[in-house]
Amino acid sequence: MSPPAGRAVLDGGRAAWAEAARPGYERSAVGPRMACYRPLGGGEEQTFAQAVAAGLGRGRGGEKSLSPRFFYDDRGSELFERICELPEYYLTRLEAGLLERAAPEIAEIAGPGARLVELGSGSSCKTRLILDALARARGGIEYVPIDVSDTLARSCACLLDDYPGLRVTGVIDTYQGGLEFAGDAGGGARTLIAFLGSSIGNLDGGAARDLLRRVRRAMRGGGDAFLAGMDLVKDRGILERAYDDSRGVTAQFNLNVLRRINRELGGEFDPAKFAHVAAFNESERRVEMRLRSLEDQAVAVRGLGITVELSRGETIHTESSHKYDLPQIRGMMAGAGLSVRRVWSDPRGHYALVLCSAAP
Ligand SMILES: C[S@@+](CC[C@H](N)C(=O)[O-])C[C@H]1O[C@@H](n2cnc3c(N)ncnc32)[C@H](O)[C@@H]1O
Repeated sequence: MSPPAGRAVLDGGRAAWAEAARPGYERSAVGPRMACYRPLGGGEEQTFAQAVAAGLGRGRGGEKSLSPRFFYDDRGSELFERICELPEYYLTRLEAGLLERAAPEIAEIAGPGARLVELGSGSSCKTRLILDALARARGGIEYVPIDVSDTLARSCACLLDDYPGLRVTGVIDTYQGGLEFAGDAGGGARTLIAFLGSSIGNLDGGAARDLLRRVRRAMRGGGDAFLAGMDLVKDRGILERAYDDSRGVTAQFNLNVLRRINRELGGEFDPAKFAHVAAFNESERRVEMRLRSLEDQAVAVRGLGITVELSRGETIHTESSHKYDLPQIRGMMAGAGLSVRRVWSDPRGHYALVLCSAAP
């Protein structure tokens, strides 16, 4: 009988990769311990071109907008890594500190032989703290990173050098597509699904609830677990500085989406004609990022055959980062059929690492 797709099999004591193709996916990189998949035809969700046409083609009435998913071309992913190192961007440092504390317990709960599925894995830097603990607990580790960014393959190739027992099935796809892929490929392995970096906060209420329900559906046995890093509500000044740093790296990250439109869709945006804006919306409890047009302008996007009309002061919404409190987190998880099993937080209560299991 052939092994399930994307699963490693033991071959005379050596891990060998099961090369089974996945219908609807192309394998974009394959090595002895790594396979990368991407959906043929771009998957179910809006393409960049469709999103730009729908979000910026909009005339008067309704704010222009783009999903934060489109920040992460190669340059955007690189800029995000620089953001993570900024003194103002407390999220990465706090989460890494909490992971260091929590990883042994997480590895114990995950149990031997567990598979690690990660949503929005990015550089997989903090993932190393979980991998270290899993590696200490046993030899082989199966890792399934899911990310829309093409940088996924590079990030995981670095991991292979450092973890000899690691096998990687990378999925270059959206969270939704990746979860389906991981569910189908899971076999009987116990699964820990990680969602770090407070990326869940980039989803508005309904989308976050929908994703959590998908996470719950992807969890099968009672031993599966879900680990989420979630940013907590705090002082406005701390929040706004985290998204509008003194070195202007976040501004470059935000403006890069215009450069991406120029590169990929034949746009003629001049980033110098836009300002980066980040403000905490207290009633919605989220930091909102926008690009504000500094003048009246009409910008052609030749590849789409459209002209984007912007008046002076008009904004394009590019990201919301929701902030939570613990009762709200418990409610969100319960609403998706997840029960919070353990919470790790820093002494000032600025960030939380939340471990959930399927609600009974
Ligand atoms: C805020 S970064 C966090 C990266 C990493 N987890 C961390 O904690 O540093 C969000 C990551 O999710 C990816 N991403 C954003 N939207 C996505 C989506 N809808 N589906 C899959 N990946 C997405 C981005 O490419 C990026 O790597």
